[in-house]
Amino acid sequence: MPNILILGGDGIGPEIMTEAKRVLSCFQNELSFTFIEKPIGGAAIDTHGSPFPKETEEAALQADAVLLGAVGGAKWDGLPLAERPEKGLLAIRKTLGLYANLRPLTIWPQLVGFSPLRPERLKDVSFVIVRELTGDVYFGEPRGFKEENGQRSAFNTMIYTEEEIRRIAKVAFDLARKRNKRVCSIDKSNVLESMRLWREIVENTHREYPDIALSHLYVDNASMQIIRQPSSFDVMLTPNMFGDILSDEAAVLSGSLGLLPSASLGGQSALYEPIHGSAPDIAGRGLANPIGMILSVAMMLDHSFHRPDLALKIQKAVSTVLDAGLRTADFWNEGTEKVSTSQMGSAIEKEITSDIVGVRK
Ligand code: IPM
Ligand code: MG
Repeated sequence: MPNILILGGDGIGPEIMTEAKRVLSCFQNELSFTFIEKPIGGAAIDTHGSPFPKETEEAALQADAVLLGAVGGAKWDGLPLAERPEKGLLAIRKTLGLYANLRPLTIWPQLVGFSPLRPERLKDVSFVIVRELTGDVYFGEPRGFKEENGQRSAFNTMIYTEEEIRRIAKVAFDLARKRNKRVCSIDKSNVLESMRLWREIVENTHREYPDIALSHLYVDNASMQIIRQPSSFDVMLTPNMFGDILSDEAAVLSGSLGLLPSASLGGQSALYEPIHGSAPDIAGRGLANPIGMILSVAMMLDHSFHRPDLALKIQKAVSTVLDAGLRTADFWNEGTEKVSTSQMGSAIEKEITSDIVGVRK
C-alpha cells in the first residue's frame, strides 16, 4: 500500500495541496494509498522551531513518495539563511538524495494568448529542464560571512564533482532517448572552473549515447534562446542554480508560472512539487492556481507508481477544464470563467471521475 507524505508548507501551499489530495483521491480504488501530513518550511518553524523537523525527516525517509506545496514568506525573512523556510526544502532534497529535478514545459493550445510570446513562436515548443538539485553553489562549502579590517564580505562555493555531473548527465541522456533525442547542456565554462568540468564530463558521458545529439550553450545565451527560439530545445540539462533561474523563465512561456509541475528523483523515494513559490500575497483568498500542483500528482503517478494511464487521465481532465474556459485569477481574461482554487480543483476532479465511471461502465 503506497504511503504518501503530504507537505503543504506555507502561503498558497496548503490550498493547492487540498486540491491535489482531492484529485489523488479519485484513484483510491486503483492504488489504495495512505496519506500522512507533516509540517515543513515556515509553518514548521512556527510549530516545531525548525523548517525540517525530525518527525518530518523520518516520515520522508519512510514515504514512497512526497508531495510538497511551497515554502517561504515575508514573515520569516529576518531569519539567518540556515533557519529559513527554504532550508526545509533544500534539506529534504538532500536527505532523500533527490539530485535530478525534471521540469517539463507544456504549451497548452488553449492558453497561448496568455504567453508573453507571440503564438507563432510557441509552435512545436515542448521541452524538459533536467536540473541538478543537490549540488552547486546551493550546497557548496565553504560558505558564509566574514569580517576583516572592519569590512564584511560574504562568500559561496560553486562546486561539482565528476560523479555529480555524470549521474545527472545520464538522467538527461536517458530522458532524451524517450523524447526527440536532443540534449542541450547549459554552463558558463568560458568563465568558471566548475563549469569547465561540467562541460568536460557531459561530453565524456555523451560517448555512451551516440544516438543522442548533444549541444552546449552558455547560460546567458540559453536565457535568450528560451525567448527567441524555444522550439529548439528538447532536453535542457542544467546545474542547480542555472536551472532554478531558467525554469521560471521557461514556465512563463506557458502563460502562467502556476501551471508547471516538477519531479525530483534519484533517491529511494521521490518528491513532487509545482515549480512556483508560496505566493504569500495571494494566500488564503482562493486565487491560487492549483494546476501545477495537480500536474505534479500526475508526475507522481507516472514516475513513482508506474501508472502513466492515470497520469494521462489527470492531464486530459486539465485540458478539458481549460477547454471549457475555466481560469483562476492568474490567467483569466474576458470571455473566460473566473474560478477559485477549489472550484478549479473540483472541476478537474469531476472530469476524472466521469472518465473513470465512463470506462467502468
Ligand atoms: C525552486 C525554488 C527553490 C529553489 C527555493 C524555494 C529554495 O525556487 O524550487 O525553484 O531555489 O530551488
Ligand atoms: Mg525557483
